Amino acid sequence: MSNSPLPRSVLVVGSGGREHALVRALLASPDNPLIICAPGNAGIAAEVGCRPVAADDVAGLVALAQRERVEFVVVGPEVPLALGLADRLIEAGIPVYGPTADGARLEASKIFTKQLLLKYGIPTAPAAVFTAVAPALAYLSTRKVPIVIKADGLAAGKGVVVAQSLAEAEGAVRAMLEGGQFGESGRQLLIEECLFGEETSLLVVVSGHDYLILPTSQDHKRIGDGDTGPNTGGMGTYSPAEVVTPELYERIEREIVRPSVAAVAAEGMVFRGTLFIGIMLTAEGPSVIEYNARFGDPETQVVLPRIREDILAILWAAAKGELAGWRLSIRPEHAMCVVLAAQGYPETYRRGELITLPEGLPEGVAILHAGTVLNAEGALVANGGRVLGVTALGPTLRSAAEKAYAVCERIGWSGKYFRRDIGARQFQRDRS
Ligand code: AMP
Ligand code: GLY
Repeated sequence: MSNSPLPRSVLVVGSGGREHALVRALLASPDNPLIICAPGNAGIAAEVGCRPVAADDVAGLVALAQRERVEFVVVGPEVPLALGLADRLIEAGIPVYGPTADGARLEASKIFTKQLLLKYGIPTAPAAVFTAVAPALAYLSTRKVPIVIKADGLAAGKGVVVAQSLAEAEGAVRAMLEGGQFGESGRQLLIEECLFGEETSLLVVVSGHDYLILPTSQDHKRIGDGDTGPNTGGMGTYSPAEVVTPELYERIEREIVRPSVAAVAAEGMVFRGTLFIGIMLTAEGPSVIEYNARFGDPETQVVLPRIREDILAILWAAAKGELAGWRLSIRPEHAMCVVLAAQGYPETYRRGELITLPEGLPEGVAILHAGTVLNAEGALVANGGRVLGVTALGPTLRSAAEKAYAVCERIGWSGKYFRRDIGARQFQRDRS
């Protein structure tokens, strides 16, 4: 358990559904801390003070934390972490939840991560690195499809192409290396063997050698029902991911979590934040698809409500290096989050459309905001690709889904789009 007294004020950095979920969880802390957020969104602003500092304005965020004398900073997105926000806060003497820039490389460079996974014998798909088109195309001609092309750097979840044909793979390679798609992030790429199976997201609170595995969840990355269309940031989640049986969970902890935490520490990274491990459950066993250096969005929306402990105390313990000895007590309820996106996402979409939220939500349902803002008249409007997330808790996954979808239908917004099949794989399993 944590030894240090809990902070009395917290700055949450970010503006998505993940940050809204974090703000809600921190507000529920029995210690009643003062919470502020930068930059936040319309939903967060209805609950706590928001400050107009962008999530990638590292100097501005440090200055804000100092000006407001916050005692703790919780960083949501990856970009400020990769830019060294945690490093600058630590230099300023402000405790922070979120890794320093060297730890954030686990997300910011897929090549760095692949090399680390291979060095420590952690299961992952074989891959080769390329910086020039000709050798990449020559290599592709020797491989089977489907095959995966990954831009090395950050690309807002869009830097991965699972190519179904050689032509598609070649197109992706050219677009990244010659066409400048993803800019610097696409100057180097990985060509990786395709893994088959179901995915699961594991959020692990890491503090040096200590870690705490949060409840399992499953995301739905494709835009369309039946996992069709392009990848997105995530269109919906549920927790627990029952595909992770107790035996599989034990294997994942032994073969992936424990060695990952040990590898990060052995490489000298000071990692005090969330290590998000994206795992493919293949017929041969679990295999790491990626690491992220932050909470998932929308995984966080279903994971946090299932934790009984004070989230502030957990994040603070991790930030202070006092995580040893923590055990989690997880609620038996199932949680589901359905993301409401603007029609056209993840490509082009309209902003500024009016949204009317229903009054009187049923017990256990929350509407969390992502891309929302108040217009000049003070009305709620859409202001991003992923706009809202409806999260519901229920005794079964089915009941959580029914509650969430009923509220999705009641949200008034002409540009509203959401997947109708969140949880479908689990429902299929339940039937068979
Ligand atoms: P990432 O941007 O690394 O989260 O990857 C986005 C998505 O691409 C993952 O969630 C997977 O669905 C898919 N993906 C990445 N790597 C592989 C792989 N080796 N085999 C199959 N699918 C993959
Ligand atoms: N939902 C996937 C992510 O946060 O990267």
